[in-house]
Amino acid sequence: MDWGMRNRLARMFPGGDDGNTVMLAVDHGYFMGPTHRLEDARATLAPLLPHADAIALTRGILRTSVPPSSTTPVVLRVSGGATVLKDDLSHETITTAMRDAARLNVSAVALSVFVGAPHEHESLVNLSRLVDEGEEAGIPVMAITAVGKELEKRDARYLALACRVSAELGAHLVKTYYCDGFEKVVEGCPVPLVVAGGPKLDSDRSALELAHSAIAKGARGIDMGRNIWQSDHPVAMLRALRTIVHDQATVAGAMKLLERPEGRTPTAPTLRA
Ligand code: R5P
Repeated sequence: MDWGMRNRLARMFPGGDDGNTVMLAVDHGYFMGPTHRLEDARATLAPLLPHADAIALTRGILRTSVPPSSTTPVVLRVSGGATVLKDDLSHETITTAMRDAARLNVSAVALSVFVGAPHEHESLVNLSRLVDEGEEAGIPVMAITAVGKELEKRDARYLALACRVSAELGAHLVKTYYCDGFEKVVEGCPVPLVVAGGPKLDSDRSALELAHSAIAKGARGIDMGRNIWQSDHPVAMLRALRTIVHDQATVAGAMKLLERPEGRTPTAPTLRA
């Protein structure tokens, strides 16, 4: 692996080769529109940016809502082409050129792969081509094992297959979901795994428990969105997650940061996802 790619990975995993990462996902608008509490991405992001090891977003939100002076590494979503208004979310293509990713000085690019979905083939070819371009540019590629609207797909057998296929095609890291038997997903995937949070859980504690279990079973971090910025206390939630991911905190220990929480993201009456 060339120095540029190693440097980009190291910036996202500040603890070194065995370190973990806390990525903040704010890319939901690319297919869900102005998601609840992410309507004004700039306002949502501003207090959270200093506490994230990386932010995951599209070029539109990066250019409009993140100050160029930011030093937080960027994971740029480069796939899209479908929205929640259609049933088949797997009909995606690559929407952002690698040269634009390089121009934006990103630390990685990310795309969804839809294993078992109508456009499985296209999404896997997209991944393979993106890896070729990423290798040439020195930019790591993160594959996201997307399930579209079929959240029930998130079981160990399916996710292990999707993660392994992604790694076999050259993904440098994989974002997936936590599930029962997650250790099987980790065991079969030779590249670092980070976990998404999925739709907002019933409590902040549940999201901390998810992160704790994922790290205990071998995840190298989280790439979480709604369970952070849809929380009533997003900054405290992100800081609590950091203690779990980086400091081996217990859930009870992390919850202490939510006892005297800071900040609340403004609420607007829009689509809940
Ligand atoms: C889908 O919108 C994206 O891949 C998200 O970045 C991913 O699902 C993580 O966000 P959340 O924790 O809200 O699921």
